[in-house]
Amino acid sequence: MNKIGIIGAMELEVETLKEKMTINNIVKKASMDFYEGILNGVSVVIVRSGVGKVNAGICVQILADLFQVTHIINTGVAGSLNAKIDIGDVVVSTDAMYHDVDATIFGYQPGEIPQMGQREFIADKALVELTQTVCAKVNPDIHIFSGRVVSGDQFVSDKSVKERLVNVFGGFCTEMEGTAIAQAATLNSIPFVIIRAISDKADEAAEMDYPAFERKAAADCAKLVAHMIQKI
Ligand code: ADE
Repeated sequence: MNKIGIIGAMELEVETLKEKMTINNIVKKASMDFYEGILNGVSVVIVRSGVGKVNAGICVQILADLFQVTHIINTGVAGSLNAKIDIGDVVVSTDAMYHDVDATIFGYQPGEIPQMGQREFIADKALVELTQTVCAKVNPDIHIFSGRVVSGDQFVSDKSVKERLVNVFGGFCTEMEGTAIAQAATLNSIPFVIIRAISDKADEAAEMDYPAFERKAAADCAKLVAHMIQKI
């Protein structure tokens, strides 16, 4: 039977899902609260990981070890890296890559962790397609794009940094947890997808845009996740 782990970095990214679920159990581990229960008839574990790559990686390992989740979904907000992808649109990950890993001096690719043999962590194709289909049905006004999510322990709000993420990594959006979730899920052979609604454009206006749009973007994304899990 499926058990879906749903991770948001911040409370506002998971609060609407937690409100909708029937909670059977709350487990505290590594300063995170894991809400186990049923959402729209589906067995889920919903958790706020905290911000950044380390929190996200730890969170996935707990979902694997303690809860034996069968799938992992990362819901939340991100900065757009593409002029066509606007605030309020959604990006679903084809794959994920770090933008702040650099061992290029030893001949590795930008973003490649030495000796891992891969720098792209590939999302589950069926979950990606399902996200697109369900989004078109339940949120027809929201544009959905599938492409690469690039992550790092950095809030990006600078044009030259943004340009690097586009030119070097080919990112569609940037955030601070997705690739760590992708890496940890891959190491545990758990299919994953990252779904992010755009809260800002990762540029100088991000400081203003992010607080203005994060709540609606996070809620739209959570709504999409609540629908798509029923079809997994
Ligand atoms: N999450 C939302 N917007 C972001 C940005 N511009 N950089 C990093 N993480 C984000």
